[in-house]
Amino acid sequence: MEVGPFSVFILCLSLLLSPAITGAEISGKVGVNYGGLGNNLPSPKRSVELIKTLKAKRVKIYNADPEILTALRNTNIQVSIMVPNEILINISTNQTLADEWVHTNLVPFYHDTMIRYLLVGNEIISSTAKPVWYALVPAMRKIKSALRTHGIRKVKVGTPSAMDVLQSSFPPSNGSFRSDISGPIIKPMLQFLNRTKSFFFVDVYPYFSWVSEPNSINLDYALFQSRNITYTDPNTGLTYTNLFDQMLDALHFAMKRLGFPDIRIFIAETGWPNGGDIDQIGANIYNAATYNRNVVKKLSAKPPVGTPARPGSVLPSFIFALYNENQKPGPGTERHFGLLYPSGKNIYPINLSGETPLSDYPPLPAPENNTPYKGKIWCVVAKEAMRGNKTELAAALSYACSQGNKTCDAIQPGGICSRPDSLVRRASYAFSSYWAQFKKLGGGCYFNGLAVQTTKDPSYGYCKYASVTL
Ligand SMILES: *[C@@H]1O[C@H](CO)[C@@H](O)[C@H](O)[C@H]1NC(C)=O
Ligand SMILES: *[C@@H]1O[C@H](CO)[C@@H](O)[C@H](O)[C@H]1NC(C)=O
Ligand SMILES: *[C@@H]1O[C@H](CO)[C@@H](O)[C@H](O)[C@H]1NC(C)=O
Ligand SMILES: *[C@@H]1O[C@H](CO)[C@@H](O)[C@H](O)[C@H]1NC(C)=O
Ligand SMILES: *[C@@H]1O[C@H](CO)[C@@H](O)[C@H](O)[C@H]1NC(C)=O
Ligand SMILES: *[C@@H]1O[C@H](CO)[C@@H](O)[C@H](O)[C@H]1NC(C)=O
Ligand SMILES: *[C@@H]1O[C@H](CO)[C@@H](O)[C@H](O)[C@H]1NC(C)=O
Ligand SMILES: *[C@@H]1O[C@H](CO)[C@@H](O)[C@H](O)[C@H]1NC(C)=O
Repeated sequence: MEVGPFSVFILCLSLLLSPAITGAEISGKVGVNYGGLGNNLPSPKRSVELIKTLKAKRVKIYNADPEILTALRNTNIQVSIMVPNEILINISTNQTLADEWVHTNLVPFYHDTMIRYLLVGNEIISSTAKPVWYALVPAMRKIKSALRTHGIRKVKVGTPSAMDVLQSSFPPSNGSFRSDISGPIIKPMLQFLNRTKSFFFVDVYPYFSWVSEPNSINLDYALFQSRNITYTDPNTGLTYTNLFDQMLDALHFAMKRLGFPDIRIFIAETGWPNGGDIDQIGANIYNAATYNRNVVKKLSAKPPVGTPARPGSVLPSFIFALYNENQKPGPGTERHFGLLYPSGKNIYPINLSGETPLSDYPPLPAPENNTPYKGKIWCVVAKEAMRGNKTELAAALSYACSQGNKTCDAIQPGGICSRPDSLVRRASYAFSSYWAQFKKLGGGCYFNGLAVQTTKDPSYGYCKYASVTL
């Protein structure tokens, strides 16, 4: 997998020969992640209009969709495109393939579309099998080299990491990378990023940190709302006023520990969900608007504020995400990170220019789920699925019933829940029964969007549906 000494030599030589790529000053302008995992989203053309209305100055996409890149032509929006995870292994060992990828996906648009970042894979360490991890840095080098071959110098190569690349993040000064990846993957990556003056792209979600320990982390501290709560790192004496800064500085100290104190950080994703499932807390419009407005204000401040360990540093960023995406798998929050509904309507007023004083925004609906829901919940067929594809619903039912013990006895012919014979009722029974058995083991109430949580007991007569008690 590793490049041989000869190709390293070529790489260094070509760097020396090329004009310095220090580039223009990076700005703190805030962008948006334009994810497309929905079956009800506006066209690329309409989406670009909406991105302009939001006053986003950058956009990041998770592929190199030619229709989106065409829609972004002749705008002053900086663009970040992505090499898909699936081809990293092949690219890592095949320069021709890397050259072809750049030639096909970037070159035709480069002239009119301000493509400035080329991200190689997405959260590779967190979401792919180990062989892909080892392909990551070699693939980044090959992509960089392909850009050079095409005479493209304005595009930085990076890769977004989730915070789980860190083994320790508390206190921030104790930040360090996971020992299994630190030597073989992170160190060569930092070498590459430092040498090419690129960025460490990171996905930073105070929401996920808070939600894992809501009793020990103050919500206001996670939302940049706390006036009186501070945390002072005992090793550095640096004082923190919000969780976001703490997380970023943990990354700073982890890089510093490996000998790279100066690699710039780029916020590849940050955001807060505006909704979620009943068993999820803190996901609501009030918190999402508060977090996103505050983070925009911080990131676009002039002069830049940086973090306690890097005061004054610019933090370029992309908010996650443009839309609520109804086809993202996982818990409900995953489908509720949008600034906009699929209709294009704002979920709450916000713009990313940073020029709107917070006091100019109208009041928000009060948050109703900042403390855990207490009571029973069931998992039933979602409203949209009731009139949807019966084949899919039947397949989900049969999957749910095939798991666990006696999951579906009551809906078998003659069973207590077998009448009236309705696919929707039987599927709801199976989903509730499955979820009651498997929630503790990580099982979800989702079934590809066919299922949804409810506090309303679907039981009838002698037919009792299994429930989960929170
Ligand atoms: C990677 O390369 C192998 C061998 O050339 C090929 O069979 C495979 O389809 C390629 N994989 C992808 C995802 O392109
Ligand atoms: C490298 O990729 C090129 C272009 O896709 C392909 O033609 C070639 O067979 C690949 N080489 C190897 C060794 O897989
Ligand atoms: C610092 O990080 C190490 C792991 O790298 C961890 O074992 C230790 O508990 C952390 N220290 C504190 C004070 O949390
Ligand atoms: C990182 O890059 C800087 C500037 O090019 C250089 O001075 C420094 O030696 C590099 N650091 C490492 C550890 O390679
Ligand atoms: C911070 O202020 C809030 C509201 O004024 C108060 O409820 C809370 O107890 C204070 N917390 C601390 C740690 O002083
Ligand atoms: C920012 O957005 C708000 C609410 O959507 C709007 O009222 C305001 O005019 C916008 N400000 C700018 C500078 O566009
Ligand atoms: C229902 O879903 C199945 C499996 O995904 C698909 O093959 C079939 O075409 C769909 N039927 C309709 C009417 O959409
Ligand atoms: C099914 O029952 C067996 C025996 O009681 C038990 O060992 C197993 O863990 C059960 N499986 C599930 C998924 O509950």
